[in-house]
Amino acid sequence: MAKKTIRFGIIGCGLMGKEFASAAARWLHLTNVNVEPQIVAVCDANPAATAWFQQNIPSVKGVYADYRELLEDPDVDAVYCAVPHNLHAQLYVDIIRAGKHLLGEKPFGIDADANAKIAAALGERPDVLVRCSSEFPFFPGAQQIVQWVNEGRFGRIIEVEAGFWHSSDLDPTKPINWKRRIGTNGEYGCMGDLGMHVLHLPLRFGWQPRSVRALLSQIVSERPDGKGGEAPCETWDNAILACDVDTGAQQFPMMLSMKRIAPGHANTWFIRIQGTAFSAEFTTKNPKQVASLPYEPGGPQAWHVIDAPYRSAYETITGGIFEFGFSDSILQMWAAFCDELANRDSMTQPFRCATPAEAAGSHRVFTAALASQRTGETVTIDWRD
Ligand SMILES: NC(=O)c1ccc[n+]([C@@H]2O[C@H](COP(=O)([O-])OP(=O)(O)OC[C@H]3O[C@@H](n4cnc5c(N)ncnc54)[C@H](O)[C@@H]3O)[C@@H](O)[C@H]2O)c1
Repeated sequence: MAKKTIRFGIIGCGLMGKEFASAAARWLHLTNVNVEPQIVAVCDANPAATAWFQQNIPSVKGVYADYRELLEDPDVDAVYCAVPHNLHAQLYVDIIRAGKHLLGEKPFGIDADANAKIAAALGERPDVLVRCSSEFPFFPGAQQIVQWVNEGRFGRIIEVEAGFWHSSDLDPTKPINWKRRIGTNGEYGCMGDLGMHVLHLPLRFGWQPRSVRALLSQIVSERPDGKGGEAPCETWDNAILACDVDTGAQQFPMMLSMKRIAPGHANTWFIRIQGTAFSAEFTTKNPKQVASLPYEPGGPQAWHVIDAPYRSAYETITGGIFEFGFSDSILQMWAAFCDELANRDSMTQPFRCATPAEAAGSHRVFTAALASQRTGETVTIDWRD
């Protein structure tokens, strides 16, 4: 199959910039896409970060310390931007105005104002494709749940629970980094860091909370500053959001949790949906397994747990019996972005990456959650534009 090449520049060559490089290098894993990314330029304020790309990716020609120079590079069609949250608004706006397509990292602006600036730039350039990174819905078990929701299997929804839990911050000797500071990570704290992952599917399903009561916790108050002293941790470590969803057709409670300090959880993303006709759950803790419970009135209530086959949105060379992992979900997300960029409304499959509207929805929820924490009250969320 002749493949269209999309020439990418990466701004922010840290943890996530490298994950994209790895996915692009493994593109032959995908069997049925008519498009492929080629990384031609990189930019990072830290020269050691770009050096890794120069050493490992022969197609990289442009190496920049100032992102504006990358945006002037005519060989760059699209940009992956993975920088600290305080830089999202300025960089995403400039990328969009430069006419480069963008996969931007969450939370898509450090706060609601920053997010609105990105939305305004997008309004000026509707020709530019802009999507927000969120890879976990590409796990096969999550894709199975997407299919069940789309098929309307659940009957009346009783309750939804979704979360993303980490535990590396349980160790108080872990040095501070930009994710623990309000100036770089934002007042949202763990919600900005983890919340888009949690809200992606609920918002895709149209489950917009009409109110939220938030319980936010700060658990470790200071950490080594890397210079022999201690520095204050300014951001929320954990968040529990009790949401009330009203879709017009149904009303149900939805519990969302984002935790940087959840003992025993390395990178656990999960969604559980209980319904009167069908219940289902998937967690990356057991990445092969997806559970479902069909129910007929008076019938048995039995969970069915299957090993989900290695089958995500895009077909691959890997056989169905093998395991799917984090880097596979990143590859699938990139396939969706490139597919949409090349084929727009004629994508190979229908599950697209998180949209700017979904990212904006997550900001409404986080902003209301901060207000709820401040007042101790349940806060109504206005979804009118
Ligand atoms: N999708 C996911 O699963 C996931 C996971 C982790 C982080 N993230 C997101 O990715 C983004 C980056 O996080 P990370 O963990 O890769 O951070 P990181 O600290 O590993 O990398 C950020 C990079 O940005 C560079 N940088 C800082 N200022 C810059 C500037 N002005 N111009 C160019 N480069 C600059 C830094 O030098 C660093 O190399 C954040 O938005 C974060 O929320 C997403």
